[in-house]
This record gives sequence, structure tokens and C-alpha cells, in this order.
Amino acid sequence: MSSRQRLFTLMYRVGFAPWDGHPLPQALRDLVEGSAALPAGTALDLGCGTGDSSIYLAKHGWTVTGVDFVAKPLDRARAKAATARVVVEFERADVTRLSTEAVGSNFDLIVDSGCLHGMSAEDRDAYVREVAAVAAPQARLLIVAFIPGSSFGVPGIEPDEVKQRFARDWTLLSSGDETAMNHNGKNPARQYLFQRAV
Ligand SMILES: C[S@@+](CC[C@H](N)C(=O)[O-])C[C@H]1O[C@@H](n2cnc3c(N)ncnc32)[C@H](O)[C@@H]1O
Repeated sequence: MSSRQRLFTLMYRVGFAPWDGHPLPQALRDLVEGSAALPAGTALDLGCGTGDSSIYLAKHGWTVTGVDFVAKPLDRARAKAATARVVVEFERADVTRLSTEAVGSNFDLIVDSGCLHGMSAEDRDAYVREVAAVAAPQARLLIVAFIPGSSFGVPGIEPDEVKQRFARDWTLLSSGDETAMNHNGKNPARQYLFQRAV
């Protein structure tokens, strides 16, 4: 188990998960319910935690797989999905090893709300490779990530780094502030919407 996985396991075990229950990204709502909403298809929720984005997508007709490398939030996610009367596949898997973790492939939409921004450079390399490996041709990829210095204990990721990392295989469709996280005078999160180019 990596040190990062141990840390998240401990945080969930002691009940310290300050991200849990935050508002859904507005960028996700726009993709699902906006004026140019995507047709429902298959979706993969990376670092899904207790599953709010997954459940939201399933409620809107998407066939969803949510993955996290910690078991405890996945149990909670399954219970929440049952309460919401939606079906979601919640799988324990590491997003740096998606293609060997049997989570499926050919996803139309891949969503990351708060996973990439905490990773090491090495894990980010693997993440970029593995996300491409499970994406359908023309897939969309939505990443919501804090910028550096915006949240204690979270490394964050510079917008230029996000754009550079995905430039080879993906076309950036839009990016900007993630307005659902903009509160108390702080504006810590950015959203990036990509479309698979190759
Ligand atoms: C900040 S939380 C966000 C959770 C959820 N997406 C949300 O919006 O509430 C980050 C989540 O990513 C998971 N995570 C971090 N690195 C991961 C990895 N390499 N593979 C799978 N899950 C990971 C953590 O366990 C945690 O649940």
C-alpha cells in the first residue's frame, strides 16, 4: 500500500474527510443538465469517495463506475446509491493502474473531482496514461482540481501543468473557475474539460 493510500485510509477511518459532502461541481452539472448536455452513456468517476458525483450521474441515466482505493468510502457510496435507488458499480481500484484493475474501458465520460490535485508527479504520469487507456474515442474528461496553496495539505496543481499533461492525447474544450467551490472569498478550484483527440 502506498503512503498516500495509507493516509486516505487513516483519514476515512478516523472520520476526517472534509471534502465529503461538498457541492457537486457546476462543470459536472453543466455537462449533464446544461444547454449542451452530453447524451447519457458510460461514465467513470475517479477517486469517487462516497460517490456523490457517481450517484448524480446515475440519476441522470448514466451507466456509472466509481473507483476509489479506500474501501470504507465505497461502502458508504453503495449505501447512498441504494437509498437513492440507483445502480452504480463501485470498485476498489487505484487510478494509476486502471487498465489492470478490471474496472472496464471505453468510457464516454471520465470525471475527477479532487483526485489528481493530491497526487505526486510520478502518480500523475501514470494517471494520464491510464485514463487514456480506458477512455472511448471522443470521450470527455472533466477534472476539478485545486490550485497550489489553496487548501491546507493538498499540493494542488497549476493550470498549465494540467493542460500540458493532457496535451498529447486530449483537446482542451474549456477551463476556468469551478464556481461551486467559490465561497468565503476563496476561489480554490479550477475545472478542465477535455475531449479525447487520439
Ligand atoms: C478529495 S477526495 C474527493 C472524493 C470525491 N471525488 C468527492 O468529490 O467527494 C479524493 C479521493 O480520491 C481517492 N484517491 C486518491 N488517490 C487515489 C488513487 N490513486 N486511486 C484511487 N483513489 C484515489 C481518495 O481515497 C479520496 O476518496
